[in-house]
Amino acid sequence: MKNILITGGCGFVGTNLAIFLKSKKFVVNTLDNFNRKGSRYNYKILKDNKIKNFNIDITNLKKILNLPKYDLIIDCCAEAAVEVSKNEIDRVFNTNLVGTLNILKKIRKDKSKIIFLSTSRVYPLKDLNNLVKNKNIKKKLNLKKKFNERDNIQGPKSLYGFTKLASEMLIEEFSFLFKIKFIINRCGVLSGPLQFGKQDQGFVSLWVWKHMNKEKLDYIGYGGHGNQVRDVLHIKDLCNLILIQIKKMNKINNKIFTVGGSLKSYTSLVELTKICQKITKNKILIGKSKTTSIYDIPYFITDNKLVKKTYNWSPKKNIYDVVKDTYKWIFQNKKKLIKYF
Ligand SMILES: NC(=O)c1ccc[n+]([C@@H]2O[C@H](COP(=O)([O-])OP(=O)(O)OC[C@H]3O[C@@H](n4cnc5c(N)ncnc54)[C@H](O)[C@@H]3O)[C@@H](O)[C@H]2O)c1
Repeated sequence: MKNILITGGCGFVGTNLAIFLKSKKFVVNTLDNFNRKGSRYNYKILKDNKIKNFNIDITNLKKILNLPKYDLIIDCCAEAAVEVSKNEIDRVFNTNLVGTLNILKKIRKDKSKIIFLSTSRVYPLKDLNNLVKNKNIKKKLNLKKKFNERDNIQGPKSLYGFTKLASEMLIEEFSFLFKIKFIINRCGVLSGPLQFGKQDQGFVSLWVWKHMNKEKLDYIGYGGHGNQVRDVLHIKDLCNLILIQIKKMNKINNKIFTVGGSLKSYTSLVELTKICQKITKNKILIGKSKTTSIYDIPYFITDNKLVKKTYNWSPKKNIYDVVKDTYKWIFQNKKKLIKYF
């Protein structure tokens, strides 16, 4: 496999992957319509690396079918913010689900393969919320539960989570019907350089940015104590995994993997604040917003057992590395980044 198209390729994951795979001698193109603010910044980096971007809306089937032929499409295109899916239902459905359908039609036409970036948000809100006694989490959570490919997926999970799970199922249907080879990575939180975090998506980079700029933040939901827990996979670890998956795709395919920082790299918001204070040497005001969004979850830690056994891969970087590397990127580019955060 030589020619790769990365959809959502000017996003956080897409840009990191594009540059990484180009450095490994693949021919990489990206597709992105700059829907996300920071994507214009990332586009300049792609251009510097001589990576061509097609400014196409993923919902435009005609334009997608007219793109050159690729051996592999890595589908990283989505509206990735869970909260946005409450209000912008049509856009989220079209981008996340119709977008995947269009990519599958292109893959069918070209007889190529797909690697799909899915999410831990395919698991039902109820199962995640049932892990804690009530919505006022006063103390540090000390849970043992790790989520894997076999965990229950039945039940409301957010419209975002629905579109990603529906995309997973669509990929399986196309694979069954048209013999398309696929890999689905169901990822926990991903973070690192080139991520333009917002309160509801990309919280680690937002935390680093706010600490560096001495701006106020809020602990939102679950009583406003900041005790929610997430694992956070460093983007470098994800890139390394995808490279192995590409190399082995002819032999290992048609599988779903849960992929995340797991116990190597996880944090609560309170712990993240301490790490940011240490690394940026700044202390900021953090407010409390007690109300919990209907789409929020208190906890997520990934079980990497299957992906580890299959590829002999596990995360090498921890949450300190994620914060340190994000800090370094922001520190070196602060002035240029202001208008994108
Ligand atoms: N970042 C995470 O923590 C995380 C976790 C799990 C899964 N994922 C998945 O990984 C993938 C990449 O996420 P990300 O963090 O890089 O998100 P991102 O928002 O940084 O990147 C998505 C890119 O898609 C582009 N895009 C959006 N709508 C488009 C459209 N209609 N047509 C063309 N381009 C469009 C945006 O401009 C953006 O550059 C997504 O599929 C997301 O669901 C991300």
